[in-house]
Amino acid sequence: MLSLKTQQATPFISEEELQYLLPFMATAHRQLESGTGPGSDFTGWYHVPEINTENNLQRIEKVAARLRESSDIFLVLGIGGSYLGARTVIEACNHHFPNFLDKSQRGAPLVLFAGHQLSEDYLAELCDIIEDYDVSLNVVSKSGTTTETAIAFRILRSFMEKKYSPEELKQRIVVTTDANKGALRSYADEAGVDSFVVPDDIGGRYSVLSAVGLLPIAVAGINIRDLLDGGTWAYEKYLKYEDGNINDCINYALMRHLLAQRGYWLEMMVNYEPSMTMFTEWWKQLFGESEGKNGRGIFPAGANFTTDLHSLGQYIQEGRRILFETSILFKSSQREIKVPRQDDNSDQLNYLAGRRLHEINQTAALATSMAHVRGGVPNMSLEVSERSPRSLGALIYFFEKACALSGYLDAINPFDQPGVEAYKKNMFALLGKPSYEDLRAKLMEEINN
Ligand code: PA5
Repeated sequence: MLSLKTQQATPFISEEELQYLLPFMATAHRQLESGTGPGSDFTGWYHVPEINTENNLQRIEKVAARLRESSDIFLVLGIGGSYLGARTVIEACNHHFPNFLDKSQRGAPLVLFAGHQLSEDYLAELCDIIEDYDVSLNVVSKSGTTTETAIAFRILRSFMEKKYSPEELKQRIVVTTDANKGALRSYADEAGVDSFVVPDDIGGRYSVLSAVGLLPIAVAGINIRDLLDGGTWAYEKYLKYEDGNINDCINYALMRHLLAQRGYWLEMMVNYEPSMTMFTEWWKQLFGESEGKNGRGIFPAGANFTTDLHSLGQYIQEGRRILFETSILFKSSQREIKVPRQDDNSDQLNYLAGRRLHEINQTAALATSMAHVRGGVPNMSLEVSERSPRSLGALIYFFEKACALSGYLDAINPFDQPGVEAYKKNMFALLGKPSYEDLRAKLMEEINN
């Protein structure tokens, strides 16, 4: 299902460096597997078959079926790890233009997202468009206090309270949060709405294969068993690191570490499918929040090719030599379009007549990586059999495990995100939140000077 190709990256590293790193990787792998590394309280995602109980999965499917039936629009409220995974899988697996299909064609409500930024115009226009439709929502927040999500929930909840009776509201609001604590847990218990749990031992960015991602994905009509099956496939495939058996997942973590040591401090995740744009966003969060600590870490960036070859392509080919690329390449496409022959051949494209667009896209990928390698940009590619829930599950696990190993190789905790607090504290102080008075005074002094 997945196959990593590193031939266009190995010329940029040395065999000695690789051999030197292997014992460190063995330690990192042992730490992850035995749950003895930094942040090991948050490795509940590691054993995919154990993330969800059968009962839990059945409950997710049951609630999702009800919401699918009763809703034209399904809103998912969350930020960071509480929304990126669901959005990634939905956009990667479903139709490119869901807004232009009616519900019977989609077989599911239109899924829209909120609570992942603070734009007033976005929320106002969202409220305008949902007015005339049957709406339900899933608010997802482990802490229950994340400002962006909490504000969106307050606004959309009061919209829903005006639109629906208290009894109907119970059927339309679903909460995903901590099992025992936090504002959303209290709300769910008091309001009597359905709720799901963000497992204690899974952080947001590793949570897509738990209820956090599975409920919205199921409401969108995607088979969550297939997604989990792909995750389990990857879990089993990349489980062992015995006798220096360098499987693809370990190899990816090793290669990026070695490239970084050679000064390639920026990894560009490249896709050739627009439906994978959000996948790159999910991957950016996974690696950015996990690795960017103690003044270290590879900067995760993304590009959509061939689109961005006409914007970033020049820099990649000839700019500062600090980046390497990792491309996701699908071996097949779901649909078939061939270039038609035209008698006048005024556009000079008859040499492509009869050839499939996917083949042309694949050739563009090969041509691009060869040019970029020649320009001094190491390239890796991950070949994926097809664009499907199963392969998405496998991709998700591949990168989660590689990310955790990368963190341990770099001697950091890949499961916390202490740096995210800095902006929040400043924002609370500047907005006048009680108990932030001292910080507010300091910041105001800074602003006024
Ligand atoms: O990966 C993470 O842990 C974060 O990105 C969180 O998911 C994000 O900050 C949202 O937090 P919460 O689920 O508490 O609202």
